[in-house]
Amino acid sequence: MRRRKIAVAAGCCLAFLLGTLLNVLFIPGSEHPPPPPPRDGAPPSPPGPPPEPPEEEEEAAAAAALARQLQERYEEVLRYRQHRGAAAAGGRRALRPRERRLMDLAPPRSSAEQPRPGAPRSRAAAAAGQPRGRASGELSLEPPLLGCRDIRDVSGVQYLGSGYTKAVYKAVLNRSLAVALKAVDFGGHDVAHCVRQFSALGDCYRLAAYKIVKEMILLQRLRHANVLQLYGYCYQDSNDIPDTLTTITELGSPLEMIQLLQTSWEDRFRICLSLVRLLHYLAHSPLGSVTLLDFRPRQFVIVDGELKVTDLDDASIEESSCTSNSDCFMEFPARNFTLPCSVEGRCQNMNEKRNLYNAYRFFFTYLLPHSAPSSLRPLLDKIVNATGELHWGIDETAAQLERVLNLYKSGEYLQNTTRIPKAEYRRVPEAFIPDENYRCWPSYHHKGCLLSVFDVNEAIEICDSYSQCKAFVLTNQTTWTGRQLVFFKTASNHIMPDPDKITYVKVTD
Ligand SMILES: Nc1ncnc2c1ncn2[C@@H]1O[C@H](COP(=O)(O)OP(=O)(O)O)[C@@H](O)[C@H]1O
Ligand SMILES: [Mg+2]
Repeated sequence: MRRRKIAVAAGCCLAFLLGTLLNVLFIPGSEHPPPPPPRDGAPPSPPGPPPEPPEEEEEAAAAAALARQLQERYEEVLRYRQHRGAAAAGGRRALRPRERRLMDLAPPRSSAEQPRPGAPRSRAAAAAGQPRGRASGELSLEPPLLGCRDIRDVSGVQYLGSGYTKAVYKAVLNRSLAVALKAVDFGGHDVAHCVRQFSALGDCYRLAAYKIVKEMILLQRLRHANVLQLYGYCYQDSNDIPDTLTTITELGSPLEMIQLLQTSWEDRFRICLSLVRLLHYLAHSPLGSVTLLDFRPRQFVIVDGELKVTDLDDASIEESSCTSNSDCFMEFPARNFTLPCSVEGRCQNMNEKRNLYNAYRFFFTYLLPHSAPSSLRPLLDKIVNATGELHWGIDETAAQLERVLNLYKSGEYLQNTTRIPKAEYRRVPEAFIPDENYRCWPSYHHKGCLLSVFDVNEAIEICDSYSQCKAFVLTNQTTWTGRQLVFFKTASNHIMPDPDKITYVKVTD
């Protein structure tokens, strides 16, 4: 019995590593039958309870446990769907069949979904007993909504990443719109762990798919510039499982911390600012205060230089209940906090504070102070300290970051510094120096030294401080804050006409 379970688990893992991609790409599973489960080399099962009950009982207990988990997930999805303002979000209208299917991940229907003999899946599904087509809330995705039709003809498919539950692919629809396609990762930890435990692929799939449904509902209900945009979804029958779900979302690029550390302070500040704007929204969202229980950088992506949250299946709106302050204990690897228990018996602002401390430990400490303009350092250090100690809430933190943005954009941050140019510069309008580059850090150009400045005086100051700098060229390009991009040069031997640029040549040292 045990051997059979292990073989099924291993077979499923192998077959569905490929299966995930096929699902996403709308290739019917029946054309690609999974290979038979291998008999040897199966991964070891996790340690189970030592005294093994008789097989029948063991199976029944497993089926009941899985059914309970399915039921809990289903109810959670319903809670998010129906939570406050559901009616206000779109008024009452009849559910379109496709929307109805969003809630219909539970019972088996097609012949392809027949239970394996002896496996507990049918019992689990029946015991979970989620109603089909009777969901009372509504998702109200607004048209134009993308669906199966749109992902039938995709090109440029590329694997982007996967986490615990989902696999994500880039795809180009109609040779024009690049999107991200998300589906349950059959080879991922979530499904593999469940299959090892319960040997019930269909129900394990559903358990994982509920996370995607929850994420879709949250992506739909939390509308903000820093929440990834949901374009649509598709149900398709494949790999012996009916109604596998693929979501179609805005495309981003996975967040790479190492890469971010190599970019300019201005770009790193943008990440922190977008994160704070997101957390401010989440603290005051239409669903209440939302916390991201899994806050690691890989749950976010970058879209046009802005940070956006993509992984919402671990988001929560429950505020912990308490009878005393000691119930409101928040534990982090390097620090613990005890928050006050309110008279209503809730841990005060726990969701908001958890987000904020995570923002501090995963983002602010690395991205905010490092190579910032020196006059902004005291304010940035204050922000880092205050969030690291949880002295401020998100409102104050957001206000302080917006203040930094204003100081930076307005050039006020330059006012305190003494600005006595060392060298004199000759202005050459409508001129450009094509070569004579040198490298500097953090440059916007990998071959030359391209930096952003508030005005020509700041460019002079920078050129004064680099001994190699003998000239610079003001371009007509600007950064996200409106600052001008400037090329710094080692010489001015070859000056070319260019109506969009102004060259400044150092005439004395
Ligand atoms: N829209 C997207 N654009 C680009 N990459 C994405 C997108 N969404 C997710 N990813 C990448 O895929 C990975 C897995 O997605 P995620 O939703 O976090 O799945 P899981 O719930 O399994 O952690 C992420 O860590 C991220 O790097
Ligand atoms: Mg993730």
